[in-house]
Amino acid sequence: MKSIALSALTTVLAAHLASAASPLIVDGSDFVNSVTEDRFVMVGLAYQPAGASGYDPNSGVDPLSDADACLRDAAVMQKLGVNTIRVYNINPALNHDECVSIFNAVGIYLALDVNSPLSGESLNRDDPASSYHSGYLTRIFSVVEAFKDYPNLLGFFAGNEVVNSVKSAQTVPQYIRAIQRDLKQYIAAHASRTIPVGYSAADDDTRRPMWAYLTCGDDADSRADFYGLNSYQWCGDSTWETSGYQGLVTTFSNTSVPLFFSEFGCNTVRPRPFNEIAALYGDRMIDSWSGGLVYEYTQEPSDYGLVEISSDGDATLLEDFDNLQKQYNGIDITLITSRSSLSASASPPTCSDKFILQDHAAKFNTSMDIPACPDEDLLTNGVQNANKGKIVELTEFTTPHKVYTSGGAEVANLTITPLADDQSNTPSGETTSGAGNNTGNGTAAADDAEGVASSRSVGAGALAVAAVVAVMAAFV
Ligand SMILES: *[C@@H]1O[C@H](CO)[C@@H](O)[C@H](O)[C@H]1NC(C)=O
Ligand SMILES: *[C@@H]1O[C@H](CO)[C@@H](O)[C@H](O)[C@H]1NC(C)=O
Ligand SMILES: *[C@@H]1O[C@H](CO)[C@@H](O)[C@H](O)[C@H]1NC(C)=O
Ligand SMILES: *[C@@H]1O[C@H](CO)[C@@H](O)[C@H](O)[C@H]1NC(C)=O
Ligand SMILES: *[C@@H]1O[C@H](CO)[C@@H](O)[C@H](O)[C@H]1NC(C)=O
Repeated sequence: MKSIALSALTTVLAAHLASAASPLIVDGSDFVNSVTEDRFVMVGLAYQPAGASGYDPNSGVDPLSDADACLRDAAVMQKLGVNTIRVYNINPALNHDECVSIFNAVGIYLALDVNSPLSGESLNRDDPASSYHSGYLTRIFSVVEAFKDYPNLLGFFAGNEVVNSVKSAQTVPQYIRAIQRDLKQYIAAHASRTIPVGYSAADDDTRRPMWAYLTCGDDADSRADFYGLNSYQWCGDSTWETSGYQGLVTTFSNTSVPLFFSEFGCNTVRPRPFNEIAALYGDRMIDSWSGGLVYEYTQEPSDYGLVEISSDGDATLLEDFDNLQKQYNGIDITLITSRSSLSASASPPTCSDKFILQDHAAKFNTSMDIPACPDEDLLTNGVQNANKGKIVELTEFTTPHKVYTSGGAEVANLTITPLADDQSNTPSGETTSGAGNNTGNGTAAADDAEGVASSRSVGAGALAVAAVVAVMAAFV
């Protein structure tokens, strides 16, 4: 699909102003391409160059404001095969047109967080009422304005791990439904299409009640359109049984909304072999899970990177990149683009204490008394003079930055190759760093290979490290 011959490239560019991606819709428990009607499963990455702490609204930059960097990363990601990036901290006042148009041209969608770590731009989990105000709504609606007109916007995260403790489970859930409602009503009033809105959850005891609470009932406005879980359960050569994946599939087996890992990729065993890819995109998970987002593209102090970016903007692929690429090359595209059998029968479950709490997490607040919107005028009239993004015609396809393989060779002819209309990016089949340097075992999702238990210790620190990452990624 993506191997457009170079000779045909000019024709494609002339005919289509970089309009490759078509909007996704939610249908039952599947994301679906609104034009081709194929199922869309996320093969994606967390994308936050400079890390969670890198967001500074006064700096004039954010992860989608530097076109040369976006060209570099889109070209690398096109080779890797990803179709989605999650971006956490956006400055809605900046111009994102070139970057988003670059990712759009190569069939890569954006899943965006509306919040930022700054006070006033996120919900305070210790005091949600005091942080749910007109200024906060202006922030999140400005993000909607800035991104709503891009066709490759997959959806918005209304919150990330805001519920992560007994206390927050008692006071916060109602506010997440309120924010989802406000975002969905704003989109209905001010955007030209439906844009999915959902939540990214902590992988702790609240994961099931939160999913049940957010997805139940008749109030479609406040209901989540999708549910993401930040899960670091599969480490190194874990297996289906030992990783916890089997349990997750049982827990969420009859989900009524698309479900995915909004972060994954435990790094207690390094380099990471990414054996979980075969499970996630294989027969046992594909019916109820819509893929996931590997944490994370750039190498940061937390050591989860696929690519090391140097201060001059040149980049080096790391061994984790090579291993992940090898695993992605084994994904069965026919399997992941076919509608799930679950989807047809998916409908929102009734909200009841029994359904939400099941037999645990009795401290979870099941009240459906959702706080009222603190600024109905803003919701109705819209943000004044908001910065609104739009797809632009691309004039550059090649980044000025150099990219090196894990072995130190320069990647030749690094350029983005625009896709035909309505296509999304798929694994390339290539081994960018060259054969022979992959420690991972790309045995493909098709056979849903079980990892082989290894003598390498997963380490007692696994959960602790996962918790640290979760906290680092949690800006609200
Ligand atoms: C549960 O939520 C309701 C509705 O927001 C609120 O009135 C109540 O105080 C909450 N319960 C606890 C224990 O915080
Ligand atoms: C999912 O299964 C649980 C337990 O069997 C049940 O309570 C719930 O209603 C089901 N949800 C849906 C959406 O079918
Ligand atoms: C593999 O990686 C090692 C160390 O990073 C490097 O020395 C070697 O040249 C690489 N081989 C290939 C084929 O890229
Ligand atoms: C890179 O581009 C040059 C010039 O167009 C061409 O000769 C060469 O074959 C290309 N290399 C690859 C690996 O495509
Ligand atoms: C990859 O898998 C094959 C077949 O299961 C096995 O023989 C081989 O040792 C594995 N290689 C690595 C590097 O794990």
